[in-house]
Amino acid sequence: MTDSPITTNVQAGIGRITVNRPDKLNALNAATLDALYAAFNEAAEDPGTRVLVLTGAGPKAFVAGADIAEMSDLRPTEGRDFSQRGQRLMRRIETMPKPVIAMVNGFALGGGLELAMACHLRIAADTAKLGQPEINLGLIPGFGGTQRLLRLAGRAATLELCLLGIPVDAARALQLGIVNRVVAAADLEAETLKIAEQLAHAAPLALRGTLDAVNVGGECAIEEGLQYETAQFGLMFSTDDMREGTRAFLERRKPVFSGR
Ligand code: COA
Repeated sequence: MTDSPITTNVQAGIGRITVNRPDKLNALNAATLDALYAAFNEAAEDPGTRVLVLTGAGPKAFVAGADIAEMSDLRPTEGRDFSQRGQRLMRRIETMPKPVIAMVNGFALGGGLELAMACHLRIAADTAKLGQPEINLGLIPGFGGTQRLLRLAGRAATLELCLLGIPVDAARALQLGIVNRVVAAADLEAETLKIAEQLAHAAPLALRGTLDAVNVGGECAIEEGLQYETAQFGLMFSTDDMREGTRAFLERRKPVFSGR
C-alpha cells in the first residue's frame, strides 16, 4: 500500500517495521497507531518473523511524538480514546512473544519515547534526543510514559524528564538506563542488525519464556514471579530446542534451534 504511514518487510527472520511520515518527523496520528497495531499483530502470528526492528524513516527522527496537529482540537473523551489507542499499541509491543528492538535514529520524544520504551531493547544513535516534552504543551504523557519510564529509570529521572520537559542526549539516556546501547549514527543500522541476527538464531521458545517471565515479574510480588519463572523453566524441558542447545554445548558445536 503506497499511502500507508508505515512500511514493513521480513528478511531472514528479521521483521522491520518503519514509521514512514518523515515530513512530520514520524509523528503518531491515529492512522499510524492503528497501522502499527495491525503490523505487530500480524508479526506476532508470523512464524517466519523471529525478531522485530522498529524505527522511523528519514535521517532525523525515530518518532517526534503523538501528532500535535491531530491532538490540538480533541475533546476530553476523544483525548481519552487517543490515549487508549496509544496504550493499546504499546502494550501489544511490550507483550509480543518475540523480541522487539527500537532502533532510535533521532528524536524520540513524547509518544516516540513511549514507543521506544514499549520495545524490549533500545539501540540509539549518538545523535538521538529522548524526552517527554508534553508538559510544554500543557499535557502529560498519555501512552504509558509516566509508568514505563518510572519502571525503566526510576522516580528521579521520570520526574526530571516529565516535569522539566527537556530532552536528554543519547549518552545521558544510557546513563539513566533508558537505552541499552549508544552507537555512532553511521553504524546504527549495522549494529542493530547484528543484535537482531543473534536473536533471530536464538531459541524462540526460550526468548518467549524470558519475555513472559520479565513481563509478569514486573507486575507482581517476587514469590509469584519466582513461581512463574519455575513454571516457564520446567516447560523448556519439553522443547526440542532445549535438548538441541544442551547437546550442542556438550558436543562442542553450534546449536540449530527449530522453535519446537
Ligand atoms: N506532531 C505533529 N507534527 C510534528 C511533530 C509532532 N509531534 N513533531 C514535528 N512535527 C512536524 C512539524 O510541525 C513540521 O511540519 P511542517 O513542516 O508541516 O510545519 C515537521 O514535522 C518538521 O518539524 P520542525 O519542528 O520543523 O523540525 P525542527 O527540526 O525545527 O524541530 C523538533 C524538531 C523535534 C524539536 C520539533 O519538531 C518538536 O519540538 N516537535 C514536537 C515534539 C513534542 O512535543 N512531542 C511530544 C508530543 S505529545
